[in-house]
Formats: sequence, structure tokens, C-alpha cells
Amino acid sequence: MTPAAPTSAPSRNVAVIGAGYVGLTSAVCFAHLGHTVVCADNNPDKVASLAAGHVTHHEPGLADLLAQSLASGRLKFVLGAATAVTDAEFIYLCLPTPMLVDGRPDLGYLTGVADEIGPHLLADAVVVNKSTVPVGATRLVAQHLGRSDVAVVSNPEFLREGQAINDFLHPDRVVIGSEDSSAAIRVGELFASVGAPVVVTDPVSAETIKYAANAFLATKLSFVNAVAAVCEAVGADADDVLLGVGYDHRVGHDFLRPGPGWGGSCFPKDTRALLHMARDAGYEFDLLQAVLDANDDQFTRVANKVTAIAGRPAGGDATGLVVAAWGLAFKANTDDLRESPALAVLQRLADAGAVVRAYDPVITAAHLNTQTPGLDIAVVDDPYAVCEGADVLVVLTEWDEFRYLDMAKVADMLAAPRVVDTRNVLDRNALQRLGFTADLLGR
Ligand code: UDX
Ligand code: UDX
Repeated sequence: MTPAAPTSAPSRNVAVIGAGYVGLTSAVCFAHLGHTVVCADNNPDKVASLAAGHVTHHEPGLADLLAQSLASGRLKFVLGAATAVTDAEFIYLCLPTPMLVDGRPDLGYLTGVADEIGPHLLADAVVVNKSTVPVGATRLVAQHLGRSDVAVVSNPEFLREGQAINDFLHPDRVVIGSEDSSAAIRVGELFASVGAPVVVTDPVSAETIKYAANAFLATKLSFVNAVAAVCEAVGADADDVLLGVGYDHRVGHDFLRPGPGWGGSCFPKDTRALLHMARDAGYEFDLLQAVLDANDDQFTRVANKVTAIAGRPAGGDATGLVVAAWGLAFKANTDDLRESPALAVLQRLADAGAVVRAYDPVITAAHLNTQTPGLDIAVVDDPYAVCEGADVLVVLTEWDEFRYLDMAKVADMLAAPRVVDTRNVLDRNALQRLGFTADLLGR
């Protein structure tokens, strides 16, 4: 459903640099809030596609909002950052900050764009870091811009893929980090109509808020997965346990679902970056290291469940075992494969010699090969066909459609009715009735 257009936003000229998961959402949502937006990317195919109204990644609601923004004339796409910034009062940097081999973020795209746009900025423009950047990056961007008349502000994103539009238009809070209070107020005004609390602080604190928020959520999830393992060991039901725990408002029900491990473009990168930042500053964040290690163990634990249910040794040779998987994306409602737990689990199985094939509602073989080349995973475009002759089915992503598939048909297709459900999407009673041997995480 397309959200209703707000009425009270003062209109500003905004440039968004980088039309990825974060930039494109930001661009269409700023246009929806009433601002005039020029969105730039350095990929000509992406720019052409977006200008023609075709979204370039899977995100519910994005296509409608893109069409609406293009039709209103408040959004246009251009190639190259310098072209986008000439009339902009605000320039949002939504560029990749991928992890380097040592776990630190690569700031090369950010500094490259800052070098490029510096000479073209209006006097008094405000450059905003939306990408997740390590402490000190605001200063680094300012140095590369080389403009004393331009403020650089941190305004971190808290957009969950799959719910990004809602998270942009109805945020829990807006965080603004700036040395210059008038620039902070101006950035805050961009969000005047969303009605969220605004936390204004210095840039280093704003950057730290982003890392601390994601690291805390990752910690919560590693804890939840450990509780699920304890439940399995002592014979408790993790669903009931976590429901009971979540009613305590100090804990809350959000982010309490056990799974195959957590992943995506942010949690793994941000937790490792925070570890490094803390270490570089003289603090050993051992707790966070344990959170990361527990997540790695979770991938292995799930892979072992798959081999064990088929009577193979945990962690041992799985040569010839045929594994069917439902789900490749790192979570439902996105086509993002970055650091997907599904891939981590399946690669472990393939490395042990298993034949692995997978179905995902939005991932094609071409998409998998482009995003993560070199994996030993065959993509099948049908949830039943992927099961044909397989020794075991493993559910790795919580796509809603998996709840409604015909499990009797699945039982017939499999070589033996065995299933590992890591997302708690299947009906345990139905599985029992149909004679499945089932390993349901936490139960
Ligand atoms: C980005 C950051 O990587 C991450 O740190 C932050 O937390 C969220 O924003 P995302 O939007 O998911 O993540 O990145 P991606 O989908 O890779 O999009 C980046 C876009 O920037 C791509 O469309 C790419 O073509 C474009 N780009 C990249 C440029 O326009 N110029 C460049 O120099 C580099
Ligand atoms: C995250 C942050 O939540 C968001 O604020 C922003 O900073 C970008 O990064 P995103 O990566 O899109 O968002 O996904 P998120 O919904 O946070 O899920 C991350 C991982 O945790 C996924 O692998 C997901 O499956 C897993 N997860 C989440 C669980 O296993 N259980 C849960 O209850 C919630």
C-alpha cells in the first residue's frame, strides 16, 4: 500500500548520491515528503532503469512510490555525482562502505565522491553521511570536500530491508550528528513531517549510535539463538519461552525470533567494524567477539542438523547427500544475498560434499551468480521441483509463501520426508500428521 503523502514538509532541494538499497529508498521517500530530489549513481544501466520507473532491487512498496515521485516531477535520476549536486541544499551520501579483509570498512567510495563533488557544491550546502561510517568519517569527508563553507553532518540510516519505506517515513528516531547547530536544525527540518523524536548530538556520537544499535540487535539475536539451543537441550519450547520473556517490556517482542544466524549488509559489517574501532581506541570488546563467534557457530549448528537428520555424521563427510533448501535471501522480502545465513549454511554443506539446490521466490540463478559467484548451489525456480529426490529439505528464509505450500506434495517429492525448519514457518502438527521427521529450531 502506498503511504498517504504528507502535507507539512517544507520543500528543499536534495541530492542523493548512490541509488542502492539505502539511497533509492531515501530518494523516493524524500520526494514523497515533498522535497525536490536528484538521485545520482555511477552505474548507467541503473540510472536508465530507474529513470524509466523500473526498480532495481526487491523492496515492497518501492515501485509504487518511485512511479508516484517520477510522475510528480519531484524526483529525477542522473549519472555521476557532480551533476546532481549543483543546485542541492542537502547532499546525502548513500555509498557502499564494504568490509575490507581486516574487517575495517572501505571508505574509498565515500572519499572519492567527496573529492568529486567538493568543487561543485553551493555555498552553505550541507553534506550528509547516511552510509554507515566509522567514527571520524564526518571529518574525513570534510577534508576531502575541501570546503570551509559547507557543513558535514551524520544522519545514520536505520532502514530494515523489506520494511525500508515504512522505516524511513515512520522512524523510531532521527539521529543527527553535527558540530554546526544550524546545519543540524536544517537537516532536522527535512524530517519535519515524520513526527519522530530527533536526537541531536556530535558526529562521533551519531556514528557510534548507529554501530551500537546494530551491535545490540545482533547481540540480542545471538542470545536468542543460544536460548533456542538451550531449549532443544532441556526440552523447552523456544517459541513459548521467548513469548514469555518478550512480554517483559524491558526485553520486548521484537528481534526475538531464532533463526539460522543473522546476516545482511549491515549486522556482520557493523559488528566487525565496531570491534575494530573499539580495539583501535584501546578497548577490547570481548562480548561482541563472542556474539560474532556464536553466529558463526549457529551456521555450523544448522548445517549439522541437516546432515544429522539424514543420518550422516555432524560436521563429517556428506558426499552424495542431496539437500533441498527453501530460501537464499538473508531474510524475507528482499533479494539481498549479502552475508546471507542461508548461503553460509549451504556452503558448509556443499564443502562437506553435499549436492545443494535451492528455491527462493525472488532469487534466480543469474542473480546468485552475479551477486556471489563461485558457490556450489544450483537454483531451481519451483519450491516443489527443488525437493524432487532430495534427502532432506531445509527452510532458511522466512518467506510467507512457504507457510502455504502443500507439504503432502513435498513429502511425496522428497526421497524421504525429512525437514529442518530454521525459521519456524512450517506447521508442526501438519508435519507430524504427514509422517515427517522434523527438526524445528528451538523445539
Ligand atoms: C550503503 C552502505 O554500503 C552501507 O554502509 C550503509 O549502511 C547503507 O548504505 P547500500 O545502499 O545497501 O548500503 O549499498 P548498495 O546497494 O551497494 O548501493 C550503493 C550504490 O552506490 C550503488 O547503486 C552503486 O552503483 C552506487 N555507487 C557506488 C556510486 O554511485 N558511486 C560510487 O562511487 C560507488
Ligand atoms: C539492519 C537494521 O535492523 C537496520 O536498522 C539498519 O541499520 C540496516 O541493518 P537489515 O539488515 O535490513 O536491517 O535486517 P534486519 O531486519 O535487522 O535483520 C538482520 C538479520 O537478523 C537477518 O538475517 C534476519 O533474518 C535476522 N533476524 C532478525 C532474526 O534472525 N530474528 C529476528 O527476530 C530478527
